[in-house]
Amino acid sequence: MLVRRCAIVMLEPREHAVFDLALLVAGGSGLRSGRAWFALAPHLDQECELDEDHVRVLGELSPTNWVELDELATQHPCTVLAGLLERRLLIEQGSTADADDQGVRATHWRPAAAVMHAMSRWQGVDSKQLAREFAAHANQPILAYLGAPPTPVREHLPEPEQRLLPVPPSTPFDQLLLRRVTCRNYDTTRELPLLDFAAVLHRSFAARAVVETAPGVHILKKGVPSAGGLHPTEAYLLVQRVEGVAPGLYHYQAVRHALEPMRLLEGDAAAALARTFVAGQDYFAHAHVLVIAVSRFERNFWKYRNHAKAYRALTLDVGYLSHTIYLASTELGLAAFITAAINEVDIERAFGLDPRHEGPLAVCGFGLRAAQREEIEFDPLGVVWGAAEC
Ligand SMILES: Cc1cc2nc3c(=O)[nH]c(=O)nc-3n(C[C@H](O)[C@H](O)[C@H](O)COP(=O)(O)O)c2cc1C
Repeated sequence: MLVRRCAIVMLEPREHAVFDLALLVAGGSGLRSGRAWFALAPHLDQECELDEDHVRVLGELSPTNWVELDELATQHPCTVLAGLLERRLLIEQGSTADADDQGVRATHWRPAAAVMHAMSRWQGVDSKQLAREFAAHANQPILAYLGAPPTPVREHLPEPEQRLLPVPPSTPFDQLLLRRVTCRNYDTTRELPLLDFAAVLHRSFAARAVVETAPGVHILKKGVPSAGGLHPTEAYLLVQRVEGVAPGLYHYQAVRHALEPMRLLEGDAAAALARTFVAGQDYFAHAHVLVIAVSRFERNFWKYRNHAKAYRALTLDVGYLSHTIYLASTELGLAAFITAAINEVDIERAFGLDPRHEGPLAVCGFGLRAAQREEIEFDPLGVVWGAAEC
């Protein structure tokens, strides 16, 4: 059997609480602090615990050269090698672990970025439950638990030494910015007109031009900037209530401004999936359309190989796209949101995405705002809801 170490693995020495019945019986809390090594590897779906022998041997294995396992067994204890094989950190050639590891290699990930991305993905998380657990754990007002937050802005000089700047006269652009309020109240009784749906997608994601800068190298011109003009972020859609578009999963083809139907869904199934995508945030799940911003890591990293800034550039791209969804929606009298609290693994499975090559970084949504406010929105100027309160 030929084996080699996986391409990327980082080790974290972590202190954590361990339940100990003896301590509980003795009248204590039952919690003892323990220390352990954890392997964080982007080709795996979860971190795994290691002992010190695993750590030592892992550091001596080559991630490039395939070697016979029997040969390694002459240098390292078999039980340790077996433990690393079982954890898929030592890879058998031709195995499913090899396929996953090859995916990481082929995409040219920067190791720290690959680990950061892989380890921040959620599956089946309910953020409302997380909030309840946080409240129960804190069990006191947030200020008492967290202490005072940092000041709202950083000041280097006292006020008299600060130079005031002229405030620009209000323009339609200012009015547009003022009306942008993250929406947590969508009208579940009405359908979004097809033209509005298409307009928001066109203004945020559509390619206005495709330019071949070298033979076979195509870059896109869009309404938003993107590192290298590569525009690696695609829009995957969960449509719930749009005139003339059946509820379901779609991919938006940004060059043709076209929908690619992937899976049609009954209304209830679409609603349940929407809720899963946004980690139980019902107020967002009710939006007429969810736009899942999916980065094709392989397209960005094709140029920015193993690059220290590449992953950061991807997240910035998503910021531009999401803000344009907000502004395009607001201009049409619609409303929008963004959330990073998403179940990436569930989204990847629903759309059949291989997380080593492409994956969601955020979920946005837009639609018609409800007439009644049930959920909180941050509208201190009363621009949307009239009352001067949050
Ligand atoms: C990256 C990002 C992630 C966000 N995630 C959430 C979220 O998980 N849940 C939520 O209710 N709002 C989320 N928001 C919306 C913010 O809460 C909102 O922007 C903020 O309260 C200010 O309100 P405004 O957008 O109406 O000005 C997010 C915003 C950003 C930019």
